Amino acid sequence: MLGVGYWGSKQLRVMRATPGVGRVVAIDARLPLLSGMAHLLATGEGFTSLEAALPHIDAVVIATPPASHVPLGLAAIRAGKHVLIEKPLATSAAGAQELIQAAKDAGVTLMVGHTFEYNGAVWMLRELVQSQELGDLYYLDSSRLNMGLYQSDVNVISDLAPHDISIANHVLGAAPASVRAWGRRHVDPVFEDVAHLELGYDHIGVQAHIHVSWLDPRKVRLVTAVGSKKMAVYDDTNTEERIRIHDKSVYRSDGRVQYHHGAISSPVIRFDEPLAVQARHFVDCMTTGAVPRSDGASGLAVVQVIEAAQLSLAQDRKVLLSEVSGLPETHTGLIPVPAQRAPVSA
Ligand SMILES: NC(=O)c1ccc[n+]([C@@H]2O[C@H](COP(=O)([O-])OP(=O)(O)OC[C@H]3O[C@@H](n4cnc5c(N)ncnc54)[C@H](O)[C@@H]3O)[C@@H](O)[C@H]2O)c1
Repeated sequence: MLGVGYWGSKQLRVMRATPGVGRVVAIDARLPLLSGMAHLLATGEGFTSLEAALPHIDAVVIATPPASHVPLGLAAIRAGKHVLIEKPLATSAAGAQELIQAAKDAGVTLMVGHTFEYNGAVWMLRELVQSQELGDLYYLDSSRLNMGLYQSDVNVISDLAPHDISIANHVLGAAPASVRAWGRRHVDPVFEDVAHLELGYDHIGVQAHIHVSWLDPRKVRLVTAVGSKKMAVYDDTNTEERIRIHDKSVYRSDGRVQYHHGAISSPVIRFDEPLAVQARHFVDCMTTGAVPRSDGASGLAVVQVIEAAQLSLAQDRKVLLSEVSGLPETHTGLIPVPAQRAPVSA
């Protein structure tokens, strides 16, 4: 476990309980200073650098700040270790591509921590959309707001939007063709703390709107999917009813706008801690050689959107993914559906 700060300490707890994992070591430059961690140095279960730990590990989970993901990931991969890298996989598409190529050359598993792709509620939302239960999908709307932890090396788009982009790509089974981003710096002089994104999944006629903020009084984790027949709301803060399906629609009839108001239902979702599902999947993939559900390509797809969003922000215009990604012109925007990937047991 490389990086045992806020998120890495959760990963450490989960990895210690994951079947098939014999021994977990904590690697962190600040290990002697971290509460409850310093003693690990004396028992050989803690290291202050990846380099020192490499001879003792088969795989590494990287939960360090985003700018360090590529150099640390490459060092681990080139030493023949399987890697699970936290989101975002990299801070540039070129960096993500370098990781993918290195993992291919070394024959090791490269997986990205798109935690929400291991979340039962997101799977249900995907099922509702893909089965057309909502009718034709008009749009997705996502909000991830809080008095958030200001990051020192990235803005709120790189910090929070990877979740919403990975959810949108997963639910739609596609990647967007264009991105428009708006953002403002209120507290931090360098990094935007509030941002809005519009992702154009043009080939399927769907837009995804994303609002991310470190500067909001409420903790909001909402994804709304609006279709021609029904609407679904995924609220990750509502542990009793994460998904609510509204039998509501708006349509035109006899030249007038008509409203349908039906019942609201909340399906039962078998819920397992997404981080634990993700950890088990990582171990399965490295053991069997299966391609992870959130593989390097899925990490790259998210990084490309982030890069396009940053360019849009800087140039105040809509940016096509093809401008930043170096994708071949035959790129359809469709990403492989999970059914073609390794099955994930919940
Ligand atoms: N999947 C999720 O839901 C989720 C949630 C929060 C954070 N994250 C991701 O986890 C990553 C870490 O975020 P965080 O909030 O835990 O950061 P953090 O600052 O709390 O922790 C990072 C740790 O990495 C250590 N570190 C940095 N560079 C190092 C190096 N070269 N060698 C050894 N140790 C090093 C630091 O000492 C620190 O303890 C980020 O990529 C973030 O986006 C993911």
